[in-house]
Formats: sequence, structure tokens, C-alpha cells
Amino acid sequence: MQESAELLGHRYRFVPAPRAGRETARRPVLLLLHGTGGDEADLLPLGELLLPGAPLLSPRGTVSEQGAARFFRRLAPGVFDVEDLIQRTHALADFVQAAVERHGVAGRPVVAVGYSNGANIAASLLLLRPGLLAGAVLWRAMVPLEPEPLPDLTGTPVLLGAARFDPMIPNDNVEWLAALLRKSGASVTLRWQDTGHGLTQADVREAAAWLATLWTDEESTQ
Ligand code: MLT
Repeated sequence: MQESAELLGHRYRFVPAPRAGRETARRPVLLLLHGTGGDEADLLPLGELLLPGAPLLSPRGTVSEQGAARFFRRLAPGVFDVEDLIQRTHALADFVQAAVERHGVAGRPVVAVGYSNGANIAASLLLLRPGLLAGAVLWRAMVPLEPEPLPDLTGTPVLLGAARFDPMIPNDNVEWLAALLRKSGASVTLRWQDTGHGLTQADVREAAAWLATLWTDEESTQ
């Protein structure tokens, strides 16, 4: 596995598309965003499963909470330091723009795949930096903040992978996130699993099918 690199204060790994052949040339870059305590290596195996042939960009969160990497500060579980969140969302967006340039994939759409804390900053990227992400898979996400006015996310596909028995995220918070994104024009698919905060095989299968519908069929018809 390749070494981690550093860019604009973010440690990250980049995995290029295996071959810039015709069938993979239009695959989006998957922006992989780990949960609290993870790192830039965590989601790479999953990224390869989710959309084979897609380049992978996987940064490490820049906050350390007693040694656990996160993408922004929190005051308590589920209570976010919104000022810090805003600043780190923009820093992450700037990093993504610089990284796709550095690795020669700037023409491709970028689709975020985030889990927990990573899903929350991905939601924040959608809300604060519209135009950066062409889509997002948000596993176990909650409302990170409510911008005023809402962004224009017309047609942006978002898969929300939620859990009915998640002890960290009340079901109505997920419904609120879905409503916010829909009000912004995003095309939201909300899927509930009968499980808790942890990621399941069913989440992964569902996301892979969703990504394939959006970014594989389209290619085969061209
Ligand atoms: C967060 O802080 O983003 C959420 O509480 C999820 C977590 O990272 O534990």
C-alpha cells in the first residue's frame, strides 16, 4: 500500500484508478471520510469494493480528540463546535480541490463516502461548498449545521444510510437532515437499517448498488 502524503495540512492517501481505460475513465473520485478514531487507511478497502475502478482520495481528520482523529471539534457527543466545523469544512474543500489537481483527476466528479464523523463533515461540505461534491454516501450522519440561506444542490444525489437503533443519532435528526438536503434540491435516498451506529454489510451492498446505478450504467450507454 502506498505511503501517506501531506497537502495543505492534511495527511492523506491517494489510490489512482487501476488503468485509465475507457470503461473507468469517467468514474468519479471517491472521497473517503473516516469516523472518529479512524485514519486515512481505514476506508480504502471499502472504497475499492464500492466502485471498482474509481480513484480514491482518503484524508485523515485534522483534529485529535485525546489521540482520536476527527474532522472537526465537538463540545460533547453530538454537540458540535460550529465555528471549528465551518473553518475545517472549507479547509477540507480546499484540500480536495488541490489534491485532485495534484493527482491529475481534476476533471472527474468527486463523490464523498463518509461514516459517522466523516459523514457529518461530508454533509457540511454539501451545505457549505455546493458544487464541490457530485454526490455523497452518508452513513450514520446527523445535521451538522443549518446554513442560512440553504445552498443550491439541485439534482445532487445523496444516499443517507441510517440506523433505527443508533444510540448516537435520534431518528428525527436523520429525518431533519434528509429534509434540509431535499429543501436544497438534492435527490435524497434515505435507507434505514434495523441496527445501531456500526456499519453493516447491508449498508455497503446498498451503497455499491446505488453508486453503480449512478456512475456505471451511464458509462455503458455511451
Ligand atoms: C460526531 O461527532 O461527528 C458524531 O458524534 C459522530 C462521532 O464521531 O462519534
